[in-house]
Amino acid sequence: MPQQKILVLDFGSQYTQLITRAIREQGVYSTQLAWHTDLDLVQEIRPSGVILSGGPASIYIPGAPEFPEYLLDLQVPILGICYGMQALTHALGGKVIPAESREFGQAQLQVSKENILLPAGQHQVWMSHGDRIESLPEGFEILASTGNSPIAAMGDPVRNYYGLQFHPEVKHTSIGTRIIKNFLFQICGLDPSWTAESIIKLSVAEIREKVGKDRVIAGVSGGVDSTVAAALVHQAVGDQLEAVFVDTGLLRKNESMLVEQSLGKSLNMQLHIVRAAELFFNDLKGVIDPEQKRMLIGNRFIRVFEKKSLELDSPRYLVQGTIYPDVVESAAPDRKESETIKTHHNVGGLPAEMQFTLIEPLRYLFKDEVRLIGESLGIPPEMVWRQPFPGPGLAIRCLGEVTPDRIELLQAADEIFLQELSAANLLVKPELGLNSGSSQAFAVLLPVKSVGVMGDQRTYQNVIALRSVSTADFMTADWSRLPLELLAITSNRIINEVQGVNRVVYDITSKPPGTIEWE
Ligand code: XMP
Repeated sequence: MPQQKILVLDFGSQYTQLITRAIREQGVYSTQLAWHTDLDLVQEIRPSGVILSGGPASIYIPGAPEFPEYLLDLQVPILGICYGMQALTHALGGKVIPAESREFGQAQLQVSKENILLPAGQHQVWMSHGDRIESLPEGFEILASTGNSPIAAMGDPVRNYYGLQFHPEVKHTSIGTRIIKNFLFQICGLDPSWTAESIIKLSVAEIREKVGKDRVIAGVSGGVDSTVAAALVHQAVGDQLEAVFVDTGLLRKNESMLVEQSLGKSLNMQLHIVRAAELFFNDLKGVIDPEQKRMLIGNRFIRVFEKKSLELDSPRYLVQGTIYPDVVESAAPDRKESETIKTHHNVGGLPAEMQFTLIEPLRYLFKDEVRLIGESLGIPPEMVWRQPFPGPGLAIRCLGEVTPDRIELLQAADEIFLQELSAANLLVKPELGLNSGSSQAFAVLLPVKSVGVMGDQRTYQNVIALRSVSTADFMTADWSRLPLELLAITSNRIINEVQGVNRVVYDITSKPPGTIEWE
């Protein structure tokens, strides 16, 4: 962990991760913990400032999450947001009451007093609360108000404690970034020193110290996370690391070549490629149930990986590409395990029973940070910015039985779709952000045949569905409104160039109610 850091205390808001990310985007490290975290851990972290997130509770209901008063002893600036402001107020002797009406959505904020946190004037802000501050704690003054919230912002400039009823972390708050910057740089006095280079430097030192002279193994899937994790460890320990890439035969066309090039050639990493397609296809014979496919592929993957690792020079450590959202989501307060929609399989889900010690160099990083350090480490951009690809690969895009012939047909159709999207410049452009094009696009082979006519002949052939979605987080997604001309060209090319396909359809289902993948 770097010297300067902000602790984000999570009271269960759906926006907490946005706060943590908004801080990181300003070049300051932030770490997120549950509101009931022990003092010891917080003392160990030694934060330079604390932000209290919002949350769904009401402070005056018995058992509601409370502001941990030991934070006052740290004598660092505190910013409470929404519920965080109410919890701070309650703890410091102010009063919180239910508002006459819930305030949800855009509101006009009038800054009433010149202060270090908020720019002067009127601003659009995003509100989402049922309670409000009725009276201020001692030492505080009102900084701003809205029609529904006479105390929409408050501050105690002596102790550097501030509270906002609205959400600066949400993009609908026009001055959100300025507020975060003011808190970090003016109030906490930090520097923007959390950069790709500093992350790499810290991680490399930490990995070297941990690993010493031992050997390390990494499973790489060709996905961004496992690739960057392996590259980072490689930077730290060089040839002590060996990477294993399992070619399942279920990858996109030319995918295994891309992995070989980017890891083996550009990074000079010792890369073992295990060609195991036959084993996977054997397991999948006659299987059409999606969950069974996932399970079989996951198990086979582990066995292939395990066998290879036994052939290597007794590695002690295993690299995993776990990233920060996986960590905070599994540790967040008041969030129940959601129902299993699909059993996700990836390299990160590897063998608990294998006797390795884990190295998770991306455990505290968000995806955008992972991409930045990937670029800094010299991983080619087409690898760093690639679309997510599911662990079970094309097996879950090949509805019905998975056979080498059907996968080959699917690969050919998929390649054409991606070529056309790329030629039309419709895929996400890294420099323009995640909403600049299709976030994920692929072809799906359906398990039905349809009747057609080609050259006066009746055909009875396969149907390909095209799927393209835009999304920032892959938890929800909207189907892409692709130009009809692009769909026409793609359909035409698939039917002419891919033997055995006579119909192409386009999927117009968002998530929810659909999922991005079909299985
Ligand atoms: P769904 O289909 O659940 O997918 O809307 C959300 C995102 O997750 C990807 N996905 C997977 N990724 N292992 C993975 O690593 C898996 O088993 C898996 N299944 C789905 C999917 O491609 C989309 O980006």
